[in-house]
Amino acid sequence: MATIRLPGLIDAHVHLREPGYTHKEDFHSGTCAALAGGVTTVLDMPNTEPPTSTPRRLQEKVDLARAKAVCDVGLFVGATVADIDAYLPAATRSCGLKIYVNETFGSLRIEELGLIHRLFRTWAARAAELDGWRPAATAAPTTATTLGPIAVHAEELMVPVCLSLCQLYDVPLHVVHVSRRSEIELIRAAKEKGLPVTCEATPHHLFLSEESFNRGGNRFDMRPRLAAPDDVEALWENLDAIDIFATDHAPHTLPEKGMAEDLPASSDRPPLPGVPGVETMLPLLLTAVDAGRLELDDLLLRCVENPRRIYALPEQPQTWVEVDVDTVHVLSDELTRARCGWTPFAGRHVKGRVEKVVLRGQTVFDGEQVLAAPGSGRVLFQESEQ
Ligand code: NCD
Ligand code: ZN
Repeated sequence: MATIRLPGLIDAHVHLREPGYTHKEDFHSGTCAALAGGVTTVLDMPNTEPPTSTPRRLQEKVDLARAKAVCDVGLFVGATVADIDAYLPAATRSCGLKIYVNETFGSLRIEELGLIHRLFRTWAARAAELDGWRPAATAAPTTATTLGPIAVHAEELMVPVCLSLCQLYDVPLHVVHVSRRSEIELIRAAKEKGLPVTCEATPHHLFLSEESFNRGGNRFDMRPRLAAPDDVEALWENLDAIDIFATDHAPHTLPEKGMAEDLPASSDRPPLPGVPGVETMLPLLLTAVDAGRLELDDLLLRCVENPRRIYALPEQPQTWVEVDVDTVHVLSDELTRARCGWTPFAGRHVKGRVEKVVLRGQTVFDGEQVLAAPGSGRVLFQESEQ
């Protein structure tokens, strides 16, 4: 058996669901699942209930994460149509501003051009009042007087809208979960022109296509939807333009997805989009490395170095992941640690079993159990470090 040692991974796109949806996940269950997947830092999205759209709500999340998280956590803020600038005083304590310009789960969609424009203008103006954007390379603790990027859920025609605002206001823009040929080709062209844009792709958009949805139904439904095989091919062709692999870990229960056998036939609740993923990213990517589709360096660049640089995340000293890269194992719902208890990759044969995770010198996962105490994870970008 060959065991390799990797740095702790960063998953720059997870939904830990607390507060509001703790039947799906919470700061403890989600960060335990992260450690089991070799992930030692997660960036949590603001579409909780209530959403992370005011300083008070950010502070509530900080307190919850400080009490429960077992890996390090950065928190995004979001804007609501009702009170569009309310997030602003909390901006420096977030890892970035998340804007949803397309349809998805939660109440944070902003689709009006005037409001999207205002969010870019305001974020840029705030950065100008402060010390600008987060430094490219940073040592902990991070400065409280800089801002992270705007991360945008933009699909199809909304991609050029956001690219144009990124160019106009010179705001670092990160396009989350790119899924189509049209989108990645446009982002590549924008990068070639020198725009401050980066992007990410999820394992489900790299390893699954709409054929899975057509065969398997709502279990494979998320936003953006699984795309055509040619779109999947385009992501692989343009890998050099993809800065980050992140999971968009978006757990919902199977009944909520309309997938439970005991669901009443007349259920009038629309099935929820989103799939879990924080535990399965590393084995899926290492299996691609084993198959010669990816170099190990490509993986580390996109799961460690680039997310650290783009979001200016602090180094984690004495932190590593030990992975058995030889033994084949089968991903399954039963082995899933995320509270939702299922995975869209059930039945898939993979290599890359996480045997041990050490965070700041402590063994926090031994291959079977999470050993870290709730609250031992750090919450990033807070002025008073723990
Ligand atoms: C996400 C969720 O459930 O929070 N769902 C999804 O399909 N990806 C929201 C999102 O990231 O768009
Ligand atoms: Zn998401």
